Amino acid sequence: MAKITTSAQSSGAPFHVACIMDGNGRWAQMRGRPRLVGHHMGAKRVREIVQRCPDAGVTHLTLFAFSTENWKRTQTEVAGLMRLFRRYIINEAKGLKNAGVRVRFIGDRIRLEDSLVKMMDDLEMLTADNSSVHLTIALNYGGRDEVTRAARRLAYEIEQGELTHKDVDAETLARFLDTRFLPDPDLVIRTSGEARISNFLLWQSAYAEYEFIDTLWPDFSADEFQRIVESYGSRERRFGGVTA
Ligand code: IPE
Ligand code: IPE
Ligand code: MG
Repeated sequence: MAKITTSAQSSGAPFHVACIMDGNGRWAQMRGRPRLVGHHMGAKRVREIVQRCPDAGVTHLTLFAFSTENWKRTQTEVAGLMRLFRRYIINEAKGLKNAGVRVRFIGDRIRLEDSLVKMMDDLEMLTADNSSVHLTIALNYGGRDEVTRAARRLAYEIEQGELTHKDVDAETLARFLDTRFLPDPDLVIRTSGEARISNFLLWQSAYAEYEFIDTLWPDFSADEFQRIVESYGSRERRFGGVTA
């Protein structure tokens, strides 16, 4: 298949793909295995998709790993996921650094264990000079929670006299979001056949393209990822305007 690139992709401009990694539980249940087996298989997919980003023209990849609502799951599943995040960081840190990947985390760290937060900080620091791919992992992330926290910090700055209500516009608010360092996503992919966004990047995705695919995340290959990214090139984005 001929490689189709968007003007943004071919110009080397930022190209941001965000993924809602869904379907791990069903993948395992279909095989009569515990849900955590699906999460482990899903984590393996992350490596190959990150590696494929440069070839696919993706400069920014954001992955939804754990939502503010996922605490509702059983204690066993939540604890297993937290262990998996630690393992991912331990196993991948060196490879990510060597591959030129800059890793950052978004979401509220307050509810995460201190030792995990320390590992996240260390990985951010270890990869801080990299720039070939910007990988952002959303952990204890919720779009409403993020906007609420941003509004609270903005209100605090106003209380302190650092800003006034007249300074509050979309640009200023965006500077208080977890994603302040990221361009808006161009494309959001959700696996597993669910056509909803489940509180992911609500503010940032205002004009993103969406791709809902049936594949369960543990079956989602780098080839399929690249195909979807390439077919995005044929879509016309109007941003509320009209095309001649
Ligand atoms: C997504 O897979 C991973 C997380 C939410 C952590 P799920 O665990 O939601 O898998 P399904 O949707 O139950 O199949
Ligand atoms: C969204 O998936 C969260 C992540 C992928 C981390 P969920 O499986 O939690 O979303 P719902 O419950 O189907 O909306
Ligand atoms: Mg799910």
